[in-house]
Amino acid sequence: MAQSNLYSRVIGTGSYLPPDRVTNQDLAERLAKQGVETSDEWIVARTGIHARHFAAPDQTTSELALQASRHAIEAADIDPQSIDLIIVATSTPDFVFPSTACLLQNKLGIKNGGAAFDIQAVCSGFAYAVAMADSLIRGGSNRTALVVGAETFSRILDFNDRTTCVLFGDGAGAVILQASDEPGVLSSALHADGSHANILCTPGNVNKGVIEGSAFLHMDGQAVFKLAVKVLEKVAVEALEKAQLSASDIDWLIPHQANIRIMESTARKLHVPLERMVVTVGEHGNTSAASIPLAFDVAVRDGRIKRGQHVLIEGVGGGFTWGASVIRY
Ligand code: UT7
Repeated sequence: MAQSNLYSRVIGTGSYLPPDRVTNQDLAERLAKQGVETSDEWIVARTGIHARHFAAPDQTTSELALQASRHAIEAADIDPQSIDLIIVATSTPDFVFPSTACLLQNKLGIKNGGAAFDIQAVCSGFAYAVAMADSLIRGGSNRTALVVGAETFSRILDFNDRTTCVLFGDGAGAVILQASDEPGVLSSALHADGSHANILCTPGNVNKGVIEGSAFLHMDGQAVFKLAVKVLEKVAVEALEKAQLSASDIDWLIPHQANIRIMESTARKLHVPLERMVVTVGEHGNTSAASIPLAFDVAVRDGRIKRGQHVLIEGVGGGFTWGASVIRY
């Protein structure tokens, strides 16, 4: 039975970006060679993205997750063997199965038989994973969770489609959530509406050894934009109400980093000053499930997010899915 004074707290964060940093100019030059026209000006004006990182051919999602997890474990100063739950949010797993979380558990040398599984909620994946880990910890079945968002979206980008290939990047972020009698995750709200599945999807599957359908990401950008702006405000308000807080209590807003225009519009609607929003989209691009934990780690390590402060995370993505959590750091 859940204990009312049992919470999950963030005790460490970590992140990792693959070394290959590709600026808009670099990308525009690469794309021009294959007859695809884009420009730094267009990408910056429409999205706020200046650069993204791409994984090397031999860097899998579990490898990126491993590096981010090591940093989080080091920051939390815990024995990896004490991690009894691993959740990896990803839409670009190494394999159909086993899960990236199981591969990560093995790479970390964790031999305690704790639970490990992936969550597939695309760009909302980290919000889903935090809510899930928090719920398992508060329910008493797990004590120490490694919660990761990790992606190699470059593998599912069609570099002939300029409407999508300039938007995404690769990376990983991780947090350690541990059982505590002090409040940490204060509330979560999760939602989905599968009737919008077609506006953001990679509609392929493996059948009898061949890929059926498309293995590339497809997006109706404007439809996603409109829906994202609508649901992000609603879910943030819901999470704040559940935590019995108002937007003025929020020290840091960490939205999914897809487009600066969506992020600023959400902050304005919530009346959160723009200087209290953590923005990494310019340097990371859209790293899907990795974007929130990457931004979280950046702001912890540069000293912006301090102990005791309230952080509102919120994500939106394919499915359609959306979710938010209020966290006392
Ligand atoms: O992570 C999951 C959530 N995803 C998102 O939140 C993404 C949401 N959507 C968006 O961020 C925006 O819709 C985009 C950034 C994808 C697109 O911005 P937009 O302002 O909606 O542009 P648009 O699609 O209306 O395209 C405007 C023009 C078009 O040309 P015409 O038809 O007006 O002549 C496009 O062909 O921009 C053109 N265009 C480009 N031009 C240069 C589209 N992509 C490019 C490009 N470079 N890369």
